[in-house]
Amino acid sequence: MSTDKTLILIKPDGVGGGLVGEVISRIESKGYAIDALRMLKADRALLEKHYAEHIGKPFYEPLVEFMMSGPIVAIVASGNCVIEGFRSLAGVTDPTLAGPGTIRGDLARDQGTKVVQNIVHGSDSPESAAREIAIFFPK
Ligand code: RTP
Ligand code: MG
Repeated sequence: MSTDKTLILIKPDGVGGGLVGEVISRIESKGYAIDALRMLKADRALLEKHYAEHIGKPFYEPLVEFMMSGPIVAIVASGNCVIEGFRSLAGVTDPTLAGPGTIRGDLARDQGTKVVQNIVHGSDSPESAAREIAIFFPK
């Protein structure tokens, strides 16, 4: 039996807002395992790889600027269905619409910034998870 894995990022608004413990607590309380964790300041080259699918979109440059604005925490979490499960814990992209009980619904709101600031990233498929884990945790 193989265990699913996902790449989670606590974004600069989450780290700067003192929410690292809260986010990790929600991951662990749900029952997922933390397999790896590191804090880093992402540079443009790393974010270009991570956000390759968004290059050229209007929010791409503000997104990269935001993600370089402070330290982030990268986490590999594992457990059955953890990819969908963490996205459910996170809530939808827009924190105004994210439901109460979710990370984005409870801990974020619209800040009037050029790009949506929403505390966390979670991989959206097994292929994305494998690709993103290799970017943040190279062997
Ligand atoms: P994530 O990748 O961070 O888990 O978020 P997601 O799947 O819910 O959203 P995605 O479409 O992958 O977008 C990545 C991040 O870009 C910012 N974004 N801003 N219209 C906008 O201003 C806009 N759209 C996306 C958000 O920070 C989003 O999480
Ligand atoms: Mg995404």
